[in-house]
Amino acid sequence: MAADVKVAILGAGFAGLCMGLQLKAQGESSFVILEKADRVGGTWRENIYPGAGCDIPSHLYSYSFAPNPDWPEVYSAQPDILAYIEGVVDRHELGDHIRFGAEVTGAVWDEAAGCWTIDLADGSSVTAQAFVTAWGQLNRPKAPPIEGRESFAGRAFHSAQWDASIDLAGKRVAVIGNGASAIQFVPEIAKVAGRLTLFQRSPNWIVPRMNRPYTPEEKAQFRARPELMEKVRSEIFQMAEDRLIAKRNGTAPVEEVPIPLAHLNAQVADPELRAKLTPDYEVGCKRVLISNDFYPALTRPNVELVTEAITRMTPQGVVDQTGRLHEADVVIYATGFETKSFAGETAIHGVGGVTLAQAWKSGPEAYLGISVSGFPNLFMLYGPNTNLGHNSIIYMIEAQVGYVLQALAQDRPVSVNSDVQAAYNDKIQAELAHTPWAGTCTSWYKTPEGKILNNWPGSAQAYAQAVAGFDAEAYEVVRTTEPAE
Ligand SMILES: Cc1cc2nc3c(=O)[nH]c(=O)nc-3n(C[C@H](O)[C@H](O)[C@H](O)COP(=O)(O)OP(=O)(O)OC[C@H]3O[C@@H](n4cnc5c(N)ncnc54)[C@H](O)[C@@H]3O)c2cc1C
Ligand SMILES: NC(=O)c1ccc[n+]([C@@H]2O[C@H](COP(=O)([O-])OP(=O)(O)OC[C@H]3O[C@@H](n4cnc5c(N)ncnc54)[C@H](OP(=O)(O)O)[C@@H]3O)[C@@H](O)[C@H]2O)c1
Repeated sequence: MAADVKVAILGAGFAGLCMGLQLKAQGESSFVILEKADRVGGTWRENIYPGAGCDIPSHLYSYSFAPNPDWPEVYSAQPDILAYIEGVVDRHELGDHIRFGAEVTGAVWDEAAGCWTIDLADGSSVTAQAFVTAWGQLNRPKAPPIEGRESFAGRAFHSAQWDASIDLAGKRVAVIGNGASAIQFVPEIAKVAGRLTLFQRSPNWIVPRMNRPYTPEEKAQFRARPELMEKVRSEIFQMAEDRLIAKRNGTAPVEEVPIPLAHLNAQVADPELRAKLTPDYEVGCKRVLISNDFYPALTRPNVELVTEAITRMTPQGVVDQTGRLHEADVVIYATGFETKSFAGETAIHGVGGVTLAQAWKSGPEAYLGISVSGFPNLFMLYGPNTNLGHNSIIYMIEAQVGYVLQALAQDRPVSVNSDVQAAYNDKIQAELAHTPWAGTCTSWYKTPEGKILNNWPGSAQAYAQAVAGFDAEAYEVVRTTEPAE
């Protein structure tokens, strides 16, 4: 059976698009990108809350092969990042390869034909010799399981599903959660809300955000001399890597605590509020946040920080453990994402009909975060244990795409050896046990039992080295009776 395409890619975020762009750069035209939404961008299409932006400087948080001399500032805002992604897609004429409104509901490995049949929500299907999933780690918004949540009579939405039709001016707004998303939009909505109540379960370490606009002269220089952008990119990358090394040497508390503590002390005068905002866990255990306007927002007269646990919601608002009702017109859930499944619940059937969920009954794992034993020619981008707390995910994605291209060049279906996968995961789990993320905090990086599923244990460069060459000996070639053409 001839497959429809050589490669089917799930998702048109930074990762899926990178895969498509690199295939195209190699002269490959037999591929399709299946995207459930109607626009590219993934994270940057979805997170449109006020103040949304990156926390890795833009000259690094962008494709290495598509530098942008026009970044308006060091840390760009969501609209600029989305415009960048769309610009790259247009310039590289990738649009014809993208199928929008194409939600993947499942996929089956056809052992005889040696190809994947990928099912879409509209009932159609696509066959492909290789299937690359790029469904993101932060793509499935998680609403909190609070008793009575459905009874709330006002308007409610998640930060990643921002309802811009609701005018928050003068409203009583309750925000649940204070992670990286909340600290970006709280200062913005505090300016307009009548009253803002922020529910904090645990505080974060926060450091200053050293942002500034690039001047017209700098942008002109970047345009005239692209090597300057390369230099800036390398410097940002190295600074990020150095921060990780400091943490792993155990010097983080000495070297870094003074910075977030001084930041807190400089911005919050009230000792009671300061105490509520001071974490009791190691710096770096949760993602270190960057903000200059979050603490000042909390000192506004119309803003209250509530640290008493939430017990339930009523039609009027949110009730805390003291029994106090915090009345609200609008509730915003800034409660993060479902990050533990790696979309393993999608009905992906590998060899013998085994599903990803069955293969992952002890938790998601993949060799190099890319390959899963028993799932030939299935390659994951930004898969298990490939997230970072200190550097750009786009760097990781580019490294993975390079590896997948080499795997595809084998020109026959390959499946990673189960022993190789198990040994690899034992090794990285042992390393993860000595990282800051294994500390005493809770975070989206780990399960309640403490297994770290999301993060890579080392430097970004170490990961790039690990995936630099396709190690064919780690894989077995899968025999098919009816090879795909
Ligand atoms: C608010 C926010 C800010 C962030 N800031 C940074 C930062 O500063 N630096 C950094 O390094 N990282 C940051 N991240 C992480 C960010 O998610 C990654 O950097 C990167 O954008 C991930 O790209 P992706 O393509 O892997 O996933 P995504 O961008 O999540 O894209 C996944 C795509 O797959 C599609 N999809 C999912 N399921 C299906 C399906 N079943 N069928 C078809 N299509 C599907 C989705 O619609 C989406 O378009 C941030 C994340 C968030 C949420
Ligand atoms: N570039 C950026 O600046 C940026 C911006 C946004 C997001 N991101 C990325 O996206 C990740 C996720 O960020 P996020 O802020 O959306 O999610 P998050 O970091 O997972 O934060 C979720 C917040 O909700 C709280 N929470 C969760 N469930 C709750 C419940 N049932 N009751 C009360 N509080 C609850 C959490 O409290 P606990 O801490 O106590 O669990 C936490 O404060 C970030 O770590 C980062 O990687 C980056």
